[in-house]
Amino acid sequence: MDLETLRVADNALWEAGPPHDVFTTLRSQCPVHWSSGITQTPGDAGFWSVTRAEDVLTVSKDWQTYSSASNFLLTDEGVPLDLVKGMFIGMDPPMHDRIKALFQRAFTPKAIARHEPAIREITDRVMLSLAGREECDLVTDLAQPVVARVIGSFMGLDPEDDKPWADAINTLLGFGDPVLNPGGIDQLVMEHIPPMYEKCMKLVAARRANPTEDMMSVLVFAEIDGDMLTDLEIFAGFVLMMAAGNDSTKATYTSTMRALMEHPDQRRLLLDDLSLVPSAVEEALRMFPAFAHFRRTATKDTVLGGCPIKKGDKVAMWYPSSNRDEDRYEDPDRFDVTRNPEHQAFGAGGRHFCLGTALARLELKILVEETVKRFPQMSIAGEPSWVISQFSSQLKHLPVRLHG
Ligand code: HEM
Repeated sequence: MDLETLRVADNALWEAGPPHDVFTTLRSQCPVHWSSGITQTPGDAGFWSVTRAEDVLTVSKDWQTYSSASNFLLTDEGVPLDLVKGMFIGMDPPMHDRIKALFQRAFTPKAIARHEPAIREITDRVMLSLAGREECDLVTDLAQPVVARVIGSFMGLDPEDDKPWADAINTLLGFGDPVLNPGGIDQLVMEHIPPMYEKCMKLVAARRANPTEDMMSVLVFAEIDGDMLTDLEIFAGFVLMMAAGNDSTKATYTSTMRALMEHPDQRRLLLDDLSLVPSAVEEALRMFPAFAHFRRTATKDTVLGGCPIKKGDKVAMWYPSSNRDEDRYEDPDRFDVTRNPEHQAFGAGGRHFCLGTALARLELKILVEETVKRFPQMSIAGEPSWVISQFSSQLKHLPVRLHG
């Protein structure tokens, strides 16, 4: 591998998910690596890849040096920048902290635990809808409807709107995938985003007329230093919650199930002792983080891992790499449901640490537990395919035989 010319974010490396062999080489030979650009988006500047857990922690914690405010995505040619910058994930303190604080009370483990019966009921309903079928697509038939209803209920959406919103969000997050977004970025901006905005504004108008208890009302009535959020900020906040709530949990659930089907000994352990499910979920989060990277932008000249980072440089934290760092994990490529590891799938503990961890963990626990209980023989029925993305690291399809 020629590390001088290597461009870590090139599509060619990502057709079957994250390039783990590339990351293994980088961690040992060049843990902070410079890519000169991104071949599929030539307008993008070069960037630094941070591949070791310790360095990811450094970047994540130091928001003064490594800012989220330029863009949290590596490419500037994906999701439109004004949308990105309206999301609190794309802001720095103090604005970031103020907006995030509006949501935090609803996402504590205690507050989230109250949703368990509702999430179990949603999971039950979707699983029952598969009765009589021999095969299904675990991504589209099971994971998607469950996670879309869960986040849909948090946002106060009507159930019949779950699928159209999920399709829209899949197009947005899969912006670089020719199947999910066949028309490319132009079509995304011109054709997909305006109707999403219009639909969102109808929800906003309804809340303004009749306030509700859901997260949409939190956005609509948020007051920061006496100012309400603008319509664009409300839309951006809505898209952030919908995207974070949909794709991440769906991705982790399907990767977990794939790993369990590929490692029947590990599934046996779960079937014999369901109390291992939370540990299996953490192991899956470690090995298959739903987001491959978040980006920061250097606010000043600095040095990381001996490398000279210049003010304005893009810096990508690669979680599929840091979560397999040999310095932290023994035999990091081994899927071990008893490992119960710490990991950086939810971020490395900085200001932007995932808001939805308790919700994601609860959904994943219920989904994995119910799947192995009800379909203990489930097996892979066809080639799984990946979303082509250096950001949203997830399977597009996972065909399975439900009863083996
Ligand atoms: C397996 C599931 C999930 C994974 C792997 C995940 C991962 C992450 C990561 C890595 C970040 C940090 C971004 C950064 O450092 O810039 C993040 C932030 C965030 N996540 Fe999650 N997430 C998951 C589920 C959820 C869910 C269910 C929600 C629910 C609404 C959610 C909402 C958010 C929000 C709002 C942020 C922004 C936080 C901030 O900027 O302070 N996430 N997530």
